[in-house]
Amino acid sequence: MKAAIFHGANKPLSFEDMDKPAPGPDDIVVKIAACGVCHTDLHYLDHGTPTYKQPPMILGHEPSGYISDAGANVKIFREGDKVLLPAVLTCGVCDFCRTGRENICNAMTMLGNHIDGAYAEYIKVPAKDICHLPDEIPLEEGSIIADAISTPFHAVKNRAEVKPGDTVVVFGCGGIGINCVQVAAAVGGTVIAVDIVDRKLELAQEFGATAVINPTKVEKLGKEIKKLTGGGADIAIEAIGRADTIQEAFGTLRKGGRLVVVGFAGENMSVNAGKIMFFEMEIVGSLGCRPVDYPKIIEMARLGKIKVKELVTNRYPLEKINDAFDLLRAHDENVIRSIVIP
Ligand code: APR
Repeated sequence: MKAAIFHGANKPLSFEDMDKPAPGPDDIVVKIAACGVCHTDLHYLDHGTPTYKQPPMILGHEPSGYISDAGANVKIFREGDKVLLPAVLTCGVCDFCRTGRENICNAMTMLGNHIDGAYAEYIKVPAKDICHLPDEIPLEEGSIIADAISTPFHAVKNRAEVKPGDTVVVFGCGGIGINCVQVAAAVGGTVIAVDIVDRKLELAQEFGATAVINPTKVEKLGKEIKKLTGGGADIAIEAIGRADTIQEAFGTLRKGGRLVVVGFAGENMSVNAGKIMFFEMEIVGSLGCRPVDYPKIIEMARLGKIKVKELVTNRYPLEKINDAFDLLRAHDENVIRSIVIP
């Protein structure tokens, strides 16, 4: 099979021939239809973040495809079935998996990090967490559910616990934030989107935001949000990944409000501890998505309650994957998600 091989940081992926993987008894082999191209890969490619599997290896963690082969113990998949592969697979036996918190599994396996990923013609994975994709969801574009939609879904449903009528401020309308906007709007939240790029705010409106604010164009962001929400938002979701905007997001909440941190910032932040106590504020993190939520997301996408196809703005053949990474590096404001197609 053809695969784009990662040989280490600061080198382009190289397009090479490899053996097609064979399934173990509990595995499936999937013929990849498409794989979303995610910023996470730039951490390995450009910033020297190590992958768990030593290079040479295959990156790519947002795939869809067809079942090619199934191991002897695999009963629910047959050759040709359309499937979605979650970005992160779970062990099913650790304390967190056994108490319904599989997304923080102690032995999680990320495609294209712990094991070979999906920038290739085929991938081998354990069958346990894999989902069928219905015909109504286009198979190639459906790939992006695996991370770009699932992570925001968990953040909005399980961590923010958005209820109809809640006011929700989403900080950052990139790949993660725009989906926080659309899922929060889909479950009945009134969404205010915040971004420093006007085009991102236009997109946020297309995906369900009822108000948008560019913080570089207002005197005091907190004051604007308090004005729009009658005193502060019920929920703020930070999807940028900066300590200063996490703090800023906290400052937009009303009493009893909840801050959800989806963006990754490897720094300390400072909030007033007394405010947390006295106003019963909540600050929660959000990581990935539990396998149990995937069928719900797929059903919402099938019914058109979540847009999927509209999120895919760019498509590349697999051999042009380095161009897809260059586009990510360019921060083009019109790009939401690229997919590569083997
Ligand atoms: N205020 C408001 N918006 C900002 C600011 C700021 N100070 N700085 C950046 N932004 C906006 C950008 O314009 C962009 O639209 O935040 C958005 C970030 O989007 P992406 O770069 O596409 O990042 P994304 O893939 O969405 O990930 C966001 O979530 O999972 C984490 O590690 C990921 O920390 C990252 C975060």
